[in-house]
Amino acid sequence: MCGIVGYIGKDDGTEICLKGLKRLEYRGYDSAGMAVVDNQEIKSIKVKGRVAALEEKQKNNPLKGSLVIAHTRWATHGVPSEENAHPHFDCHKQFAIVHNGIIENYASLKRWLEEKGHKFTSQTDTEVIPHLIEDYYEGDLVATVQKVLSLVEGTYGLAIISAKEPDKMVAARCGSPLILGICDNGDYIVASDPTAVVEYTRKVVYLNDREVVVLNHGSYQIFTLDNKEVERETSEIAWDLAQIEKGGFPHFMLKEIFNQPDTVSNAMRGRIILSENRVKLGGLIDYLDSLAKSERIVFVACGTSWHAGLIAEYLFENLASLPTEVEYASEFRYKGSIVNTDTPYFVISQSGETADTLESLRKVKSAGGKVFGIVNVVGSTIARETDAGIYLHAGPEIGVASTKAFTSQVTVLSLLALYLAKARGKMSDEDMQARLNSVLALPKIIEKILKNADSIKNIAERYIKYNNFLYLGRGYNFPVALEGALKLKEISYIHAEGYPAAEMKHGPIALIDQNMPVVVVATDTEDIIYQKVMSNIEEVRARGGNIIAIATEGNEDIKNFATEVIYVPKTAGFISPIVNVIPLQLLSYYMAAARGCDIDKPRNLAKSVTVE
Ligand code: G6P
Repeated sequence: MCGIVGYIGKDDGTEICLKGLKRLEYRGYDSAGMAVVDNQEIKSIKVKGRVAALEEKQKNNPLKGSLVIAHTRWATHGVPSEENAHPHFDCHKQFAIVHNGIIENYASLKRWLEEKGHKFTSQTDTEVIPHLIEDYYEGDLVATVQKVLSLVEGTYGLAIISAKEPDKMVAARCGSPLILGICDNGDYIVASDPTAVVEYTRKVVYLNDREVVVLNHGSYQIFTLDNKEVERETSEIAWDLAQIEKGGFPHFMLKEIFNQPDTVSNAMRGRIILSENRVKLGGLIDYLDSLAKSERIVFVACGTSWHAGLIAEYLFENLASLPTEVEYASEFRYKGSIVNTDTPYFVISQSGETADTLESLRKVKSAGGKVFGIVNVVGSTIARETDAGIYLHAGPEIGVASTKAFTSQVTVLSLLALYLAKARGKMSDEDMQARLNSVLALPKIIEKILKNADSIKNIAERYIKYNNFLYLGRGYNFPVALEGALKLKEISYIHAEGYPAAEMKHGPIALIDQNMPVVVVATDTEDIIYQKVMSNIEEVRARGGNIIAIATEGNEDIKNFATEVIYVPKTAGFISPIVNVIPLQLLSYYMAAARGCDIDKPRNLAKSVTVE
């Protein structure tokens, strides 16, 4: 996690770096720091806390320089503190580094360096790097960095400056993202992701693992660690500044929730050919036949993306009769799972950078398997390393709690399930037509729910005093219950558990009393499981529990059983997760807002988990 920014150019780059850090704060925000080379000397400031505090410090005692590196931290090794904040230095402050990732063999390297007399000032793994550079430096920063990076094990996206070579920045990556922004005026900005550079340029270069970029004033070169020069084409960032600003909303999360009519439209745009009654998925075109013939599909993901994978399991099995498994990436990568080369694997990731998901992808590929991606961030590592895939086109998601990416993932997965259902002869033309029409209706339905946001806010405000919630759903909406509970935990710090409704009797029912509200997804009135969910509601009521029901418009009967009812428009069951999750997103948002939580930057979390 952590965000890094570096600038080399003609002017003072401190403001650009501070602005960049603010855009990267979703990656971590427990401490921050910045260093410049000024008059052949490294000068630095650090704070415990947010980038805003660093900005304050900068105002009081400004650093200035045209060679700058900066960092916002999510602590892994060492508590959040000024000492542990980056940049880190060697003994004589001749080299400064900002780093995102983990140096796994730091303990042995640190022991070795300490025996040689190096003095460490932090508890971080990162600090071994500047000391190693100091130890090996013989007048060539690039060669020294290449040597040092071949000694370290682990992951890094890093940028290094030195007082000894004040016209140069060296940046490198392995397992943590790093991009280079190329400005028209010859300035360069390196950063953990494009949000930190898009204000200045849309022309970027994506670095690959074990590559080092050397930036001089007005030119750059990319090398491998063993010093082979690499030619790399530039890419264009496909979105603009407006998409990473709040646009009048108090939080990115609320903006992203309200964006969903558009983002769900974007996820389906050009992919439904209604006149031909079919789904078109250009990114998978070369593989669709073999996908349709496969006997099993495996999804691998983390967090909210894993919940999207769980919904895909229901979609693929119910619609396409295709056996499907869903794995947590963090479990999959280490368990003795046998990679079957006939099985297509799909990784789902908003950021395209989640470390466990990326390593799972690599595990399958190195065993000779095929991996496809359902990814939002264009050009991200996962997008680049998969064999093919489907982009979400949801635009940048900044709020740490994922919302619009989730509904886009489920939209895309629903389309893929429909494609496979048709290709496998499991769906009549009539059924296909009806289902495509229901997918097309989604944006309008979401708009309608969002118009009802104030009434959800009222309900949320009545429930903020409770410390435990249970979320129940069945079938397609069991993963929605998990996602609703996760949203509440993430941003309001209220304990919540998601459960398949009928499993309540196997444990959670023991917890139910008037202090444990139960949120029940009870749409799909025509489904055979609806009556069973209603029985679960009765069971909660009999034990004095308060029920917040998500129900279909027109279902007046449910008012007799539930304490609160949030109505959503009627929709087909297979896409109901996309509809039903919206009120749950709003419920958690408004509860967190009423509790005064820091919604876009919830404590201890980071948007992009680039460490395992
Ligand atoms: C973090 C984020 C979640 C996200 C998960 C997986 O935990 O806070 O919102 O769902 O990572 O991220 P990915 O980018 O791979 O979808």
